[in-house]
Amino acid sequence: MCPADGKAEYAFIGRSNVGKSSLINALTQRKNLALTSSTPGKTMCINHFLVNEQWYLVDLPGYGYAQRSKKDIEKFQTMISDYVLKREQLVCLFVLIDIRHDPQKVDLAFLNFLGSHGVPFAIVFTKADKLPVTKTEAAANKYMKTLQEEWEELPPYFITSSANKLGREELLAYIEDINKNL
Ligand code: GTP
Ligand code: MG
Repeated sequence: MCPADGKAEYAFIGRSNVGKSSLINALTQRKNLALTSSTPGKTMCINHFLVNEQWYLVDLPGYGYAQRSKKDIEKFQTMISDYVLKREQLVCLFVLIDIRHDPQKVDLAFLNFLGSHGVPFAIVFTKADKLPVTKTEAAANKYMKTLQEEWEELPPYFITSSANKLGREELLAYIEDINKNL
């Protein structure tokens, strides 16, 4: 069940295991607020976390997790698209992408789906600690270049790591900035 208090929501989405729950914990500086797991498919429902009594971080189930049954995949897809398309409180969706991976079809399809429905979103590259520092910016740029082949306008992006808190301040500042103008 989603809260009905009308507060702004910032949601995190991406493939299973990309680090959504870990990022929420890093942002809130809580170790086990959102349950994380090395087994994909841990987050099974929509979880809301109230921050500063003002706005919500929303943990969504991962998409593109092949080990689920067909019925479950459909259930999660409906849950995700209902939330993304219908939730009025959703202010910005953060789409998480593992910085080590080349663009994957399932992510590109999801990003195109967001673009075609006019959903406001930003890209968050995760697990930057797994690449040498000198390679992260280039990896992000390469990814954004792929998007540029199809899109006229690029979304903002952030390079983050929940392990060493890289990008945490930037992401929080971005959210606070939007909050100020609501
Ligand atoms: P689902 O809920 O299953 O969709 O996964 P999720 O996207 O919420 O991923 P979760 O946060 O549970 O993290 C998955 C795995 O990646 C865990 O083993 C985390 O410890 C690891 N992980 C997440 N973020 C980072 C990071 O920034 N750096 C490193 N090195 N590992 C990370
Ligand atoms: Mg999760």
